[in-house]
Amino acid sequence: MAKIRARDAVFCLRPFCVVFAHPVSHTKSSARWLARHHADPYVREARAQGLPSRSAFKLEEIQQHDRILRPGMTVVDLGAAPGGWSQVAATHVVPNGRVFALDILPMPKATEGPFRGVECIQGDFREPSVSEQLLTKLGGRCVDLLLSDMAPNLCGIPAVDQPRSMQLAELADEFAQQVLNRGASLLVKVFQGEGCDAFLGQLKHHFGTVTVRKPKSSRPESREVYLLAKRFLL
Ligand SMILES: C[S@@+](CC[C@H](N)C(=O)[O-])C[C@H]1O[C@@H](n2cnc3c(N)ncnc32)[C@H](O)[C@@H]1O
Repeated sequence: MAKIRARDAVFCLRPFCVVFAHPVSHTKSSARWLARHHADPYVREARAQGLPSRSAFKLEEIQQHDRILRPGMTVVDLGAAPGGWSQVAATHVVPNGRVFALDILPMPKATEGPFRGVECIQGDFREPSVSEQLLTKLGGRCVDLLLSDMAPNLCGIPAVDQPRSMQLAELADEFAQQVLNRGASLLVKVFQGEGCDAFLGQLKHHFGTVTVRKPKSSRPESREVYLLAKRFLL
């Protein structure tokens, strides 16, 4: 899917908000972010291929390397909007498999075309009632692969951003332990920093292998990496 060269990639997941900054600086940084965004080859390629986000390339790269998606699988996609990963996952698992996508933000309404086999829930995964809703939707199905690309709204202050992102990763792991099939996998985004190594160690207690993935389509200067935990031990 990715025809572009990784070294050409320059992107930002979302604009950093400038805390205590003068409004003029904020406007300038937003303009800079927009300029970078539009020049980003992955953004252009995503548009050309009709993908909802450039993030799709990250999952596709991991898929090409690790073959985590297979036909017929039940997949949960946390932090799914605007739908790039769900679309990639659906391509690999339908017609017999399903993708259960969850995000605070709305997902595309379509249930046909590239979103065939994708069921969506809108809500904050930190709310127990929302994870309950997801469990209900799963209807007792065991999950073969749990994806989490959840990321908090970054404010640029590591002491605030890092615990927020680790909390989302921890919640994804807790949910994984409730729903994964024996031998299933978890792919979870974390930001390198405090708590990351401890989290990796924690995953090693209930998965056979844990590896770190940094797809070429992930901005090199971003602290974002993906932990791929395979062979869930029940
Ligand atoms: C990097 S984006 C995901 C991109 C997506 N994987 C794709 O391919 O289009 C991170 C997402 O995490 C979501 N998110 C952040 N905190 C969340 C939470 N507490 N519950 C649910 N979703 C959350 C955001 O709304 C955002 O859409």
